[in-house]
Amino acid sequence: MANLTISAKTAAPPENIKTQALVALLPERKTLAPSLKPLDTLLGGTVSRSLKNGDFAGSIGTHIWLPGAGKIDRVLLVGCGDPGKQTTSSIKKMSETLSRALINSPAADAHIVMDGLTQKLKAPQTLLEQISLQLTLAHYQYSHTLNKRKKPPRSLKRASISPGVLCSMGVARRAILAGSATGHGANLTRELVNLPGNICTPKHLASEARKLARSDASVTTTVLDERKMAELGMHSLLSVGNGSEQPSQLIIIKYQGAASTARPYCLVGKGITFDTGGISLKPGAKMDEMKFDMGGAGSVFGAMKAASLMKLPINIVGVIAAAENMPSGRATKPGDVVTSMSGKTIEILNTDAEGRLVLCDALTYAARFSPVEVIDIATLTGAIIVSLGQEATGIFSNDDHLANSLLSAGERSHDRGWRFPIWEEYHRQLDSPFADLANIGAGGAGSITAACFLSQFAEDYKWAHLDIAGTAFRSAPKGATGRPVPMLVQYLRERAGVL
Ligand code: BES
Ligand code: MN
Ligand code: ZN
Repeated sequence: MANLTISAKTAAPPENIKTQALVALLPERKTLAPSLKPLDTLLGGTVSRSLKNGDFAGSIGTHIWLPGAGKIDRVLLVGCGDPGKQTTSSIKKMSETLSRALINSPAADAHIVMDGLTQKLKAPQTLLEQISLQLTLAHYQYSHTLNKRKKPPRSLKRASISPGVLCSMGVARRAILAGSATGHGANLTRELVNLPGNICTPKHLASEARKLARSDASVTTTVLDERKMAELGMHSLLSVGNGSEQPSQLIIIKYQGAASTARPYCLVGKGITFDTGGISLKPGAKMDEMKFDMGGAGSVFGAMKAASLMKLPINIVGVIAAAENMPSGRATKPGDVVTSMSGKTIEILNTDAEGRLVLCDALTYAARFSPVEVIDIATLTGAIIVSLGQEATGIFSNDDHLANSLLSAGERSHDRGWRFPIWEEYHRQLDSPFADLANIGAGGAGSITAACFLSQFAEDYKWAHLDIAGTAFRSAPKGATGRPVPMLVQYLRERAGVL
């Protein structure tokens, strides 16, 4: 993956700027902002003319290319609406428009100026952060199993942003770092999640974790194999991989950004590298999309990569439960009862409800790190897509403060979530005549009963569960989104006290 580097640059008069693409943000107004006069003059009046002609009005989501002049090859005007009325949503939309236009141009470098904006902007950091994030996300393209001819590499290599009067260079530098670190993390997530199931196996995830540790001195990785997991009594997790030729792996990634005695934040990821449903086999249509079923694991990689790029002063432990869910003569059958690491017995009524089976043992394991808070992330239920579609991640928690932190982190990063209840009454659906609990409920609210199941293994600490089945990937165009990395990174930044 070739990376895009984004930096902060002090403002300069347009005639001194040398770039293949000058990008100017323009507010919604009929006449030229006085601060844009020098650029307009350099370009021979084309900016004011396109405003006057009505070719460009500065509304959110619009852009126009103009030919350059002097040392500027071309100019991209991007509409940013009424600066006084900006929301995280409009800032995100504007940043996406800018990024898409720029990425599709032949420019190898770009310089972004904010001259058209005044200090009226409420959150200049959000703007700089979103531009850096969206540019980095737009720069990603899947290529691992494609011929070069089909997808030539992106032409854009470098971008700089001049905050102008909006904020200090220090604030700009931090916002750009946060945005691009989040973007690089989310792109790592997308790459892992996009990889096909025959390449991205549990062993592959383990080797990627070791790779992360090699690239960063503050990251270490441990992998537990099936024998080790059996010794620990993780028979629920192991039951999922029973039918597969691919051995299950429990992958532990530690990021140390604070004193070794500081209690960590724990991220637990569902890493089903392919989910056929097992003996409760899924229908054939769209089954290929079950290669995305390690989206939770992918987001743990991405969030930890971003945390390490930002050098967040906290400790984080990632625990990834990786397995492949296959039918075979050795596969778990409906009605089988297994004993989890916690000692609780589980009647497996449906082998397609496998995510909770791997996660429950990973959650029990997580307790040994004395975590401040534990968040599990999983493409857990089709039912969450019925409830929330592709817009919001389902949030479930046994702690109001943690749930609210995730909700607000989602708002701030515009990678939003919505909270669901896990009331006692729902738990009754999991009663089993043959075990401590069954792995599916029988009365609707499938995402909630799945979360209720998990909550029974997370009683000893503050815990939240993110159901990302609707948000981690899209069916058209097919591919991983990198969500909920922006939400997780925002949450971690808040916990680290660096906004
Ligand atoms: N991985 C699926 C959930 C899923 C469905 C993710 C669609 C992404 C898109 C999960 O393992 C599963 O199969 N869940 C079942 C649970 C049911 C058997 C209780 C489901 O949602 O149908
Ligand atoms: Mn399943
Ligand atoms: Zn699954």
